[in-house]
Amino acid sequence: MLHTTTNFESIRSLLGRESAGGDGTVRGWLRTVRHAKEVSFLDVSDGSCMDGMQVVANGETEGYESVVRRLTTGCAIEARGEVVESPGKGQRFELHAKQVELVGPAGEEYPLQKKRHSFEFLRTIAHLRPRTNTIGAVLRVRNAASMAIHEFFQREEFLYLHTPIVTASDAEGAGELFRVSTLPEDDPPRDEDGRIDYAQDFFGRPTFLTVSGQLEAEIGALALSRVYTFGPTFRAENSNTARHLAEFWMVEPEAAFCNLDGLADLAERFLKSVFSDVLDRCEDDMAFFEKRIEEQAITRMRTVIDKPFERIPYREVVSILESSGESFEFPVGFGLDLQSEHERWLTEKHVGCPVVVTDWPAEIKAFYMYRNDDDETVAAMDVLVGGVGEIIGGSQREHRLDVLEQAICAQGLPVDDYWWYLDLRRHGSVPHAGFGLGFERIVQFMTGMANIRDVIPFPRTPGQAEF
Ligand code: 4AD
Ligand code: MG
Repeated sequence: MLHTTTNFESIRSLLGRESAGGDGTVRGWLRTVRHAKEVSFLDVSDGSCMDGMQVVANGETEGYESVVRRLTTGCAIEARGEVVESPGKGQRFELHAKQVELVGPAGEEYPLQKKRHSFEFLRTIAHLRPRTNTIGAVLRVRNAASMAIHEFFQREEFLYLHTPIVTASDAEGAGELFRVSTLPEDDPPRDEDGRIDYAQDFFGRPTFLTVSGQLEAEIGALALSRVYTFGPTFRAENSNTARHLAEFWMVEPEAAFCNLDGLADLAERFLKSVFSDVLDRCEDDMAFFEKRIEEQAITRMRTVIDKPFERIPYREVVSILESSGESFEFPVGFGLDLQSEHERWLTEKHVGCPVVVTDWPAEIKAFYMYRNDDDETVAAMDVLVGGVGEIIGGSQREHRLDVLEQAICAQGLPVDDYWWYLDLRRHGSVPHAGFGLGFERIVQFMTGMANIRDVIPFPRTPGQAEF
């Protein structure tokens, strides 16, 4: 009889039993099958942990000849039997099967075989790749990190605020928006000037997928004091790099009565807390990443946890880079953005721990950042780590109405679109600050995975949205 409830023991909890003995049932997919003379060894995985369960079947197993001897990699099975101490290395228990049922057969062309597949190849079979060790481990780390993030903010009394995915304003002012529209493609309504008339569109105005929940998070902070959002964000930037996605998850806390220093403190406590929770909860997965993917994976996380972050103003970073004696591909100078090579040199070679770069030139940062007294820089910060570079971007917000209005106009943005954002500065405006953490970027950092497309189950990048 097939069990079709969620109320059953996972392999993770089976392997965590106090002692051998007693019945057990295992349901999952065969990672490997070895048929010896009169005995078969099935390595069953159900994704609940890195380890699979070894199921041993022989002539005494019900269905041995008719079912077990025909099993191949990729088949889904249910096995019932006795949990016994395993004589083999690397596993505590194994299951001596009394009965094995084939739940779902796998075709001969099942593409995941014992050999190692390249991550490029696995991206082409994203519907099956969660069954591999690496992607399974990535997904478990994502799960643990998500929970650690919620727990951190709940502990710090931040309220989880759900910000919208469809928005009418460009939160970053960078123009990297995906349009949301239900107008007919072949013959959209047009205004007198012949332009598409979005007043007749679904929302009665142009709308887009959000690039950030920040502007709405500010509304929340100016009422509830401390809030955070954790949701998908979308950027139509044509960057085909190992660190960019067109759809990624962002964690955005926003705090009232907070300045840049307070924000940098928050970011540091936050990263330390999330990393130590993940190390605690994903011991086996992290050991796997350290062994197979990035030798320094755990060490790097420990450095973040143990060492205080270095805070360096942008101006000083520029002089450090200029006098580094390194020959960088991209130029360095006040007013130029830092490139990934600069970020990595600074964190990996120069400082050896996370760096918070503060007080950036206004002209390369977004319109909403607080203008410093020097009238040249804004109270912004980027948190940089080794291997990945920028994982957090944030700032104190401009809470002075006139200064904000000026910044919006100076950047050539449509000031009317931001009316409610400006109105917040008219009624009970207070200094406030927030940041955005790229969730996939920290998963990359933790796991050491080289390409961001391999740390999200269904990557969206230019030209790719199949799964
Ligand atoms: O620095 P960004 O653009 O900042 C914001 O969007 C602010 N509104 C956040 C805030 O203050 N509430 O993005 C924040 C972080 C970056 O540091 C990076 O880690 C990640 O989001 N990020 C991306 N991750 C993957 N793919 C992309 N295309 C990304 N763009 C930004
Ligand atoms: Mg940024």
